[in-house]
Amino acid sequence: VCRLQPVCQHLSGGQLYHDETDKRRRDRETELDGAPQQPDAQRGLAMTIANEDLINAAKEARANAYNVYSNYRVGAAIVDDRGHLHVGCNVENAAYPLGSCAEAGAIAAMVQQGGKRIVKIAVVGGFEAVGPCTPCGGCRQRIHEFADGNTVILAIDDSNEWQEFSISDLLPASFHLY
Ligand code: THU
Repeated sequence: VCRLQPVCQHLSGGQLYHDETDKRRRDRETELDGAPQQPDAQRGLAMTIANEDLINAAKEARANAYNVYSNYRVGAAIVDDRGHLHVGCNVENAAYPLGSCAEAGAIAAMVQQGGKRIVKIAVVGGFEAVGPCTPCGGCRQRIHEFADGNTVILAIDDSNEWQEFSISDLLPASFHLY
């Protein structure tokens, strides 16, 4: 129960909130903690894309990486809440900070196509000796924006063995506005 009880305006499901914004923020925290989600028929459809197929899509995208400055190739593939596939690769620039990550490209494609949530994202990059390319800090926040407690993040290098994470594994105590 909220410590500022006298100023709370809303009571929902036994939980007191300061206001609607507080409710939205705390609903979202609960969602990200992995609490049971509303049944979503479309999620079932999305899950019919096998890990191997998603990883192969990320590998194909990776082949087109524009990586002339770092020589480091990354590909990303997303399956969204409607079961649609979106891919991206890293695109570097002579003005180094303008380069963009593979995950950013795939997320932009998803949003442009009307996808709302990331059900699963595969990120392919790195070398067997060093280990897979786990999303950079900025991309963890980008993924977080479209993730929930069920979102699966796969990180794969050339070894073909993947590591599996949730968004709270990669970005605990994350920042959000609501
Ligand atoms: N890169 C990605 O595409 N995703 C990440 O999560 C980490 C880094 C790219 C950015 C840059 O083009 C290259 O990898 C080396 O940092």
